[in-house]
Amino acid sequence: MDADRLAIRGRLAERMAQIANKAAKPAQPQPRAPSPAPQPRPEAAAAPRPAPQPERSEAPKAQATPPAAASRSRIESLKEEYQTLLHRLHERVFDAPREQLFFVPTKEPAALSGLTIASPNRAFGHDYRPIPCKVFDWALDQIPEDFSEFTFVDYGAGKGRAMLLAAEHPFAAVAGVEFAAELHDNAQMNIAQYPRSNMRCRNVECVLEDAVQVGPPEGASVHFFFNPVRTRGVRGGSEQSRDGLSDEAAAALSHPSRRRRGGPGRRKRRLARVEPSQVDELKLKLLSPHAVTVYRSLA
Ligand SMILES: C[S@@+](CC[C@H](N)C(=O)[O-])C[C@H]1O[C@@H](n2cnc3c(N)ncnc32)[C@H](O)[C@@H]1O
Repeated sequence: MDADRLAIRGRLAERMAQIANKAAKPAQPQPRAPSPAPQPRPEAAAAPRPAPQPERSEAPKAQATPPAAASRSRIESLKEEYQTLLHRLHERVFDAPREQLFFVPTKEPAALSGLTIASPNRAFGHDYRPIPCKVFDWALDQIPEDFSEFTFVDYGAGKGRAMLLAAEHPFAAVAGVEFAAELHDNAQMNIAQYPRSNMRCRNVECVLEDAVQVGPPEGASVHFFFNPVRTRGVRGGSEQSRDGLSDEAAAALSHPSRRRRGGPGRRKRRLARVEPSQVDELKLKLLSPHAVTVYRSLA
């Protein structure tokens, strides 16, 4: 019996050894397959090490300049994001209550390419987009004069937003000049329908004309520009319209008693920039998506 048991154990041991061999065989090819990869490593380590080193040293060099450029572009993209945020804040929060007062909504931009414009200066005109209402208020806040003697003129009046915001002040008259027929029609409808209870000036008129053909009004006036033209290339009349103000709301206040009368210097009105108070400057820097500049005529 013992001999039988021994024989059985022997066979079992043999069988187990066979199984163990079979199990071991498939495992062997696996390490063999990756072995070609490790082989070159020693070679590379032995001789051509200096070759890969330049590649590695190029990478840090390439990174040495980008950090400055990268931080600059990060600052630029942060600025852009902030501008976008400011535009949304004005459109959705600050402008919303006044936008409801317009018969024809003024907030939608309009490309000049789709509009009817007779003037050759259409090539120099900026597309229509309205001034944010608060930015307009902040520009006018910098003029302490009693407006009752002044005529307000918006050069490039669009759908009439700035004109009707001006009409909330007691100007003697409010005028607008717009060269796109469809925008002029919208302005006319807005003037006709604006709530009279909000208008401290009801002498409001918009003309369909190229702004460069329209001279400044007689008497004391506030000339308003919100980014009407692209370049300094506009040909024609008034000096204001040739200034080509860019992405900026500008109000220029002129008073006849301060103008030079007669002589060749008559048309050269000297304007000085009105410096905003520190509080206003901070408010504009932080909250205005557009630069705001106010000028006043000098003696
Ligand atoms: C940026 S929009 C300003 C709209 C309006 N002033 C406001 O603040 O809501 C500029 C306007 O100027 C008008 N424009 C551009 N060049 C002009 C020109 N030479 N004569 C009259 N209007 C012009 C455009 O048609 C456009 O409506």
